[in-house]
Amino acid sequence: MDKIFGYDNFLNEIVWCYSIGGKSKDKFGRKHDNILWYRKSSSHKFNPDGAKIPRKPKSHMKLLTDPEGRQYQQKTDAKTGKLYKYYVDEGKVAEDYWTDIETLNYEDAERIGYPTQKPYRLLERIINSSSDSGDIVADFFSGGGTTATVAQRLGMRWICCDISRIAVAITADRVTNIAMQTNNREKQAVQQTIVPISDISIEYWGIYEIPSLTKLNDDEFRHFVVSAYNGRPASADDDVHGYKEGIPLYVGSSSQDLPITKDQVIDFAKTVRTKKGKNHGIMLAWAFAPSAQTAAAKLEEEKGVSVEFVKISLVPIESEDFRKHITGKHKEYSDLLVFILPPEVRFKSKRTASLTYEFDISESTSINIGGKIINAQWDFDFKGKFISTQGYSFIRGDKNLPKLSVTYAFPTAGIKKIACKVQDDKGGERTEIIELEVK
Ligand SMILES: C[S@@+](CC[C@H](N)C(=O)[O-])C[C@H]1O[C@@H](n2cnc3c(N)ncnc32)[C@H](O)[C@@H]1O
Repeated sequence: MDKIFGYDNFLNEIVWCYSIGGKSKDKFGRKHDNILWYRKSSSHKFNPDGAKIPRKPKSHMKLLTDPEGRQYQQKTDAKTGKLYKYYVDEGKVAEDYWTDIETLNYEDAERIGYPTQKPYRLLERIINSSSDSGDIVADFFSGGGTTATVAQRLGMRWICCDISRIAVAITADRVTNIAMQTNNREKQAVQQTIVPISDISIEYWGIYEIPSLTKLNDDEFRHFVVSAYNGRPASADDDVHGYKEGIPLYVGSSSQDLPITKDQVIDFAKTVRTKKGKNHGIMLAWAFAPSAQTAAAKLEEEKGVSVEFVKISLVPIESEDFRKHITGKHKEYSDLLVFILPPEVRFKSKRTASLTYEFDISESTSINIGGKIINAQWDFDFKGKFISTQGYSFIRGDKNLPKLSVTYAFPTAGIKKIACKVQDDKGGERTEIIELEVK
């Protein structure tokens, strides 16, 4: 932290004390966490109101009541003679040791079961004391997503990330639920009315998903392709979208249905020759029409301009091709490269009473080496976007083991769409959707 933020930007070490947790017989009980507060620059925000705790009257001072019935204590400064009044109902700014926030117990309504989950109040104090509404809160190790959930409750914007798929899935789920609740209490039933919620987007970094590519507009797509080709994007005011080692580049449409046409080849060759004074250009595209290929051959012969075609293809990240591509360049990567595959989900359901069903995915398997299924989330009213039903996002049974068989009582009969998201401990995740006639 000193290295990242600078030693001079250290503000506080806060000791958060709690009493819940295991007892120690052979050492002092470990009952606190340390929170380090750094600022990013030479100034920072501190909102005393967000840092307030109740003021306990001091036993050695008299407790007085003013004409309005407010309790206070007072003290005269021996040097200046100034009189200080401390109103009990005004509270006081907390010191750097916090003893008034208990850690979560097993029965806590806000507890979702994620290990290391922090209580809302702790995050509320941290966020409220150091930011104003509309600010952006970030947690780069989001875990169960308490930070994002509290930020969402407080109407802030937030950014979260985590290396674990489960953490991301749980965070997304909790904030969506919170955003959908018209009431702030998490355990209260989700209101069925749709309330406007802020956009929440989940990005998986390092993987280019085909749907994301096709969503890019032509400019974004060109920029992406030129960069991926190790070229330098150019401001596209003409037919040249970038350069690689001085060679002009042209990128076709982002749509795989629009191959490069003959006219595009002729226009590009003209720009390369007359405007750029070159005799070589490269066109990158999903596909090239046969007439485009003929045109290129003719241009080379007649005008001495060579237009090279580079076909773009997407290599599935799980494929052997991808592995070869990476390890061919860097041999030492071969041990490091692991492909994460989604688990195989085997699903069973059984009606146990009227409107009540038992769902079981315990026979599902992870197909990643050494992997095991460690979580299942359920959305019993799937409407196209996975939002787990309250209480069905992180279910643990005996010895805190994942519970892969659950019971659910539907509120009504009829055809229901049920989605189950299954995760393994290697980062594999698959969502299975089924339709069931509930009776
Ligand atoms: C203690 S938990 C976070 C708790 C959370 N901040 C809270 O206040 O409730 C730590 C999280 O860091 C994640 N993590 C560990 N190494 C990481 C990395 N290199 N990048 C991103 N996340 C990582 C873990 O998956 C885990 O969920």
